Formats: sequence, C-alpha cells, structure tokens
Amino acid sequence: MQDVLAKLDAMRNGARMGGGQRRINAQHAKGKLTARERIELLLDEGSFEEWDMFVEHRCTDFGMDDNRIPGDGVVTGHGTINGRAVFLFSQDFTVFGGSLSEAHAEKICKVMDQAIKVGAPVIGLNDSGGARIQEGVASLGGYADVFLRNVLASGRVPQISLIMGPCAGGAVYSPAMTDFIFMVRDTSYMFVTGPDVLRTVTHEVVTAEELGGAQTHSTRSGVADLAFDHDVEALLQLRRFMDFLPFSQREKPPERRCTDPVNRYDYSLDTLVPPNPNKPYDMKELIHKVVDEGDFFELKPDHAKNIIVGFGRMNGSTVGIVANQPMVLAGCLDIDSSVKAARFVRFCDCFNIPIVTFVDVPGFLPGTAQEYGGIIKHGAKLLFAFAEATVPKVTVITRKAYGGAYDVMSSKHLRGDVNFAWPSAEIAVMGPKGAVEIIFRGDSSDPAKIEQRTEEYRQKFANPFVAGSRGYIDDVIFPSGTRKRVCRALAMLRNKQLENPPKKHDNIPL
Ligand code: HXC
Repeated sequence: MQDVLAKLDAMRNGARMGGGQRRINAQHAKGKLTARERIELLLDEGSFEEWDMFVEHRCTDFGMDDNRIPGDGVVTGHGTINGRAVFLFSQDFTVFGGSLSEAHAEKICKVMDQAIKVGAPVIGLNDSGGARIQEGVASLGGYADVFLRNVLASGRVPQISLIMGPCAGGAVYSPAMTDFIFMVRDTSYMFVTGPDVLRTVTHEVVTAEELGGAQTHSTRSGVADLAFDHDVEALLQLRRFMDFLPFSQREKPPERRCTDPVNRYDYSLDTLVPPNPNKPYDMKELIHKVVDEGDFFELKPDHAKNIIVGFGRMNGSTVGIVANQPMVLAGCLDIDSSVKAARFVRFCDCFNIPIVTFVDVPGFLPGTAQEYGGIIKHGAKLLFAFAEATVPKVTVITRKAYGGAYDVMSSKHLRGDVNFAWPSAEIAVMGPKGAVEIIFRGDSSDPAKIEQRTEEYRQKFANPFVAGSRGYIDDVIFPSGTRKRVCRALAMLRNKQLENPPKKHDNIPL
C-alpha cells in the first residue's frame, strides 16, 4: 500500500510541475504567474479540488506520442471564493504553450457541464497559444465544443474570462461569449488575426500590444471590461467582483450585512447639479454617495465614458447601476454607450439583479459618423434591453431627460417600477433653445422675443412636474434623500414578479 501511496504522491508532484522548472522560470520572467499559482490566489485558501490531473493528449503525430504531460496544459476543478462554489479552468502555458488539444477541451467542457448542473459560475484563466497545432481538426472540434457550452451556459451561470497571456484566432470567441472579460496589461492580448498576418495582408504595421492589448480592448474596442496592471491585482479584483454576483440564474443577489444607514442623507447632493443647465457635473459623485459605503465596482470605465455601468450595493444587496455621465459628451447616448449599457442591463436581468438608473441625457449624439455607424440599430439595443428587463427597475432623473433618450433610459413607459425626479429635472421633447427655434421660427430675427419664448418654454416644460402630472414620475424627491428613497423602493420591489410572454427567444437588434 505504501508503494502505491508514494507512487500517487510522485505522480501528483510530477503533474504539478507542468512543463518543468525551465518553462516555469520563463513564465515568471515574463511577469506572469503559473496556472496553479493563479488558482491559489483566486480561490479561498485550500479550497481547490482539482479534476483530471492525469488526463493526457491522444495525439501520436509529430513525435507527440513521446511527449505527454499529465494535465495536458490546463488545470481544472472547483473551489470557493469567500465560501461560494465556483468552477474554473486555468490554462498552463508551460505545457505546449497552453494550447488546446482535444483532451484539454474535454477537461474544460467537463467543468462547464458540472457548473451548469449545480448552478455555479465558470471562471476561465486564459493563457494559450491557441489550437494545438499537432492535432489539427481535433483541436478545432474541441474549441467548438467549448463554444457550444458557452452559449448553453449563457444566462444560467455567470461566465468570466481573465485573459492572462495570448488569446488569438478563433480562440477569442470563447471569452467573447462569456459575460465579462478582464485583461492584464502588457502580458495579455486578444485578436482574430495577429500582427504578422496583418503585415502581409493589409500592410499595416502594428505590435501585438497595440493591436489587441489590454489598453486597446479596455478603451477603444470595449471588448474588455477591465484592465489590470499584473496577475495579482487582476486575481484579487476578480475575487472582489465575484462577491457582487448571484452565482446562477436561480439565485437572488448575494446579501451582506450593511453598516451604512439606509436613511443616510447627503446634503451635498442638493447642490450637485449646477444652476447653469449646460454645465457638467460628475455623476460618479452621486453614485459613490448613494451606494453602501461608497463601494462601486465600475466596468468599462475607460470605454464609452459618457455612460457609467457597474455594481454597487443598496442596504447590503447588489444592484446594477446605469448612469449617464454629463462630464463626457454631455452624457448623450451614442453607439458605444448604447451597446455598453445594453449588454450590462441584459446581464443584470439574466441574474435577477435590480437596476438603478440615473438619468441626465440630452439625447442621441447627432452626426454622420453615428448614423452611418448604425446608431438606429445600436440605440435600439438599449431600448430593447431596458424594455424586456423584468427585474426591479428604479430610475432617478437628475437633470435632462430629452427626446427618445428619455424613453430609453428605463422610463415608466418601459416598465420602470419606481421613477423619481430631482427638482432640477427637465423632461421634454428637446431643450428649450432648440424647441423655440423650431416652433417660433418666424421670430428668429428678434433675439429678445426668442429669449422670452425660451424662458416661457423653460418654465412650462423644462421641469419634472409636467411628467409628474401624468404619473410618468412617481415623485419629485430631494437629492439629499436619494439613498433613502431608492433603498425603500428596492425593498418594496423585493418580491416583484413579472414575466415576459412565452416565446422561443426575442430578436434583439444585433
Ligand atoms: C502547440 C504550441 C502552440 C500551439 C505554442 N506552443 N503555441 N504548441 N500548438 N498552438 C508551444 C511552443 O512550441 C513552445 O514549446 C511553447 O508552446 C512556448 O511557445 P513559444 O513560442 O516559445 O512562446 P512565446 O515566444 O512566448 O510565443 C507564444 C506564442 C507563439 C505567440 C503563442 O508560441 C505562437 O505564435 N504560437 C502559435 C500560435 C498559433 O498560430 N496558434 C494556432 C492559431 S489558430 P516548447 O516545447 O519549446 O516549450 C487557432 C485557431 C483556433 O488557434 C480556432 C478556434 C475555432
């Protein structure tokens, strides 16, 4: 018996060494942790249960029959994050460059299948040279098996991808179908075709970092939700992030003890909106002052900054926050901000997370770039997402809510449950100046008359009371009491039940 135990111990230790000390050193020299070191940091200490440590590839071509490494380039299993179960796979770059073989894919599929069954998230730590070149189509089949599971898991358990090394070619499409993508600066990249192919085909000269690094995807493309400076920061922030999420579509948002009083008034909010309606202010100040303990986990902070999305807690329970940002493009909706917010709203709705929306929107961004880029279709995504969402929806209009953008931003008409306005709210078809220029075009040569008409219009329509008189606004509230009123609304909505009519699935404008 002792012999068998010693053999098992030796086999385990061998598997834990992955591709060997030389390759582990090379991984460290690049500033990267190994697959197992990453798991240790991500999970609660000692909670990792590894599966399939002894799985090996079945390839016999190109000398691969003499080259088998237990685990085959991916460490899989489950463990806990602050006591809650998660499934994960962590690709091991020290073993065949973390490349995906048939067996490697089977390991990933196995944890995904089990995660769906038990209702636990799947976290992928990606660090891979792509398809295992020696295996050919078997590897492509493996990718497709993972893709299918990404789709089947979508909306049932959260899926999170942390890109910690190469992720190129068709391999990018598995992370792309997960709910969130985090990247590590300088050591990770994602692209469909790499710099070498680009140089040949389009004659563009670009580095891998410029083409698909964390900076590119967290600012320009919006593919990544967040970028971190190094592996340790990324893993620790991922732990913090997971604390906000329900772990399956069957769960309500997690609750934690809240020491921040629900009735906390913040009188500085009464002067947050400047007297001049054309002056910006920072919507993040409102968010930080309203959520529990100022703890806001923002997503895509450097992409489409005219809209803010992220998670906070109200009285201990997670909420998704969507807010126009008057500091950027006056907070208007454009293609990128509509897509950014629509995807976030849909995630919240999948996983029973109430949505709190703060509105200060002058309308949609005008221009040929937007029209040619399809703002009609992309703006409709956000409209569609808010309208179909059945989770509790609480909306606060702080200032402008003009035109179609008023309808879009979780208005009463799209089944907003509780819609508040601050006294500074202006809810109308358009701003006073634009409105007067159209309806009193005949007076355009008389500036005094235009000024008088503008003031008349402002008095009559640029306020929350017209909407209030129709019941489109449930109450006009003091800004200082926003936290209290939103918390009470959410408490009232705790057991909200609403279902969309049965159908196969909807057809959101893509
Ligand atoms: C098999 C691979 C591999 C792969 C890397 N390795 N990629 N083995 N299949 N795809 C091995 C290397 O042979 C090497 O083995 C070890 O991993 C480390 O690789 P290096 O090249 O030394 O590392 P580095 O210099 O850091 O470069 C990393 C890399 C490069 C940029 C990822 O390895 C590379 O370009 N690999 C090929 C990428 C690729 O073309 N993949 C297929 C793409 S098509 P040793 O034994 O020396 O340590 C694809 C389609 C997916 O993925 C489609 C899905 C639908």
